[in-house]
Amino acid sequence: GAAELGPYRHFMQKEIFEQPRAIADTLEGVQNIMPELFGDGALSVFKQIDNVLILACGTSYYSGCTAKYWLEGIARIPTQVEIASEYRYRESVPNPRTLVVTISQSGETADTLAALRHARELGMEHSLTVCNVSTSAMVRECKLAYITRAGVEIGVASTKAFTTQLAGLFLLALTLAQLRGRLTESQEAEHLKAMRHLPAALSAVLALEPQVIGWAEQFATKENALFLGRGMHYPIALEGALKLKEISYIHAEAYPAGELKHGPLALVTSEMPVVTVAPNDALLEKLKSNMQEVRARGGVLYVLADADSRIESSEGVNVIRMPEHYGTLSPLLHVVPLQLLAYHTACARGTDVDKPRNLAKSVTVE
Ligand code: G6P
Repeated sequence: GAAELGPYRHFMQKEIFEQPRAIADTLEGVQNIMPELFGDGALSVFKQIDNVLILACGTSYYSGCTAKYWLEGIARIPTQVEIASEYRYRESVPNPRTLVVTISQSGETADTLAALRHARELGMEHSLTVCNVSTSAMVRECKLAYITRAGVEIGVASTKAFTTQLAGLFLLALTLAQLRGRLTESQEAEHLKAMRHLPAALSAVLALEPQVIGWAEQFATKENALFLGRGMHYPIALEGALKLKEISYIHAEAYPAGELKHGPLALVTSEMPVVTVAPNDALLEKLKSNMQEVRARGGVLYVLADADSRIESSEGVNVIRMPEHYGTLSPLLHVVPLQLLAYHTACARGTDVDKPRNLAKSVTVE
């Protein structure tokens, strides 16, 4: 009802704005990096594994895709991410030294549960879930768990569950890094400091809402959109495209920007808005040349640029500048304007934002 919504028009908008609080709650009590964050017996499990297999669906799958960059980059542990409904029916090569990580907001998604059971039947007993519902089947069936504290999520399109999953998965990467001798005390302190600052950093990003509304008014009249990202922001581009299709019914695709020339460039016209997630990282210069390729075909760019990157608005290039350059945790911040873009585009088109057609909050049947 209206009372629960407070000043917001929809639950999705409310949940987007709850993210600073949700992240703070999810990290509450985390003083140090240690295996016990994931439950009793975590140390013994983590000592027996030499790779990670992430299984999830939908938005949770994209948080897994992001976490792969952290698990391999920081913890140096080989990581695969698979869509649960594919994994369960695929002939794979099981390795008993695998940590099976399921990611699920609800903890009841049928395909993800079935994938977990399939992995167990193949002899992979070490399991951990990053889940938002402590009483769910997923938490009961996994040995270890990190419970995110996003709070109840009502909007069908997941928002705060996603960013809190990322926070939990980042802690997992740091914990495995520590056990593998890849995390010095000063690095640990630095990462924890950055994590504690996330709520304030997220609030600063949420304050960009008026600028995103300006973009949404332009998107509302379009039927297609392309999202580009590179590295760990490629999954963020995928998530941005998913949000847009789920609630505004605009056809949206995400591509790793370097792949543009191998196909999607053929689609670019002045009618194709191209959202570019452009943090100031090692790939920025490459991304800038990908942006030139779009401009040369008349495509209109909508760029999320970092505070310190030298990308300016110009003809056909619309820039929203992120308040801070956030390094490794940057995906948590860059996804927020994309959530807002989908939300306001859907509002402008008058769709049923919290209950998009044909979709369910939790898919408990195959
Ligand atoms: C449904 C929801 C999505 C969600 C996906 C996975 O498709 O509409 O928002 O990402 O299920 O759900 P889970 O609860 O397992 O994260």
